[in-house]
Amino acid sequence: MEHNADFGARVVIDTRTAPWVPSPEPGIERKLLDRVGGEVARATSIVRYAPGSAFAAHEHSLGEEFLVLSGTFADEGGRYPAGTYVRNPPGSRHRPCSASGCELFVKLRQFHPEDRSHVAIHTHQSGWHPGLVPGLSVLPLHAHATEHVALVRWAPGTRFQAHTHWGGEEILVLDGTFSDESGDYPAGTWIRSPHLSRHQPFSEPGCLIYVKVGHLAEA
Ligand SMILES: [Fe+2]
Ligand SMILES: [Fe+2]
Repeated sequence: MEHNADFGARVVIDTRTAPWVPSPEPGIERKLLDRVGGEVARATSIVRYAPGSAFAAHEHSLGEEFLVLSGTFADEGGRYPAGTYVRNPPGSRHRPCSASGCELFVKLRQFHPEDRSHVAIHTHQSGWHPGLVPGLSVLPLHAHATEHVALVRWAPGTRFQAHTHWGGEEILVLDGTFSDESGDYPAGTWIRSPHLSRHQPFSEPGCLIYVKVGHLAEA
């Protein structure tokens, strides 16, 4: 199955209105953002666990990255409340579940082959750094080779310089409204901008975004 599989194309999806699609596991549904492959796929999705649901034990052959958007996710390693950012490297294994239900932003099978780091960051309890322009604060989440992942908070009225995305840029708007010259992107919008794309972003009301850059050059 291929869904938004041309990584040279810009894609914008309002994940709030995108349809839920059943998964093979009862109580677990997803919204497909991009996908290359069958049930074992290189995929980016929003995933929803109904209260009390569980997913079969599985191994992450090419890694799994997720951000808990709401509720609490759990596995043998612990409980991950909303705001937790997790990376399970290639070869890791778990049996996930959610007693209270949860919603996740998930990227499967997208690790750099040499990236073996296990990450679990409680972003609500972590320190933020000043960004490149006044009004911007950054919480770095991960970096490996050309790939960089962070949460970025924009104070109301913050404007950033025009820039080119070497290796592309992927954004999930978590709160507020993010904008550039192509449009306004309210909370829940997912934007995938290809290698060498260019824009000049800003936020009038302020926003919080998940950003990954540098990972789409070879995809
Ligand atoms: Fe997993
Ligand atoms: Fe950008």
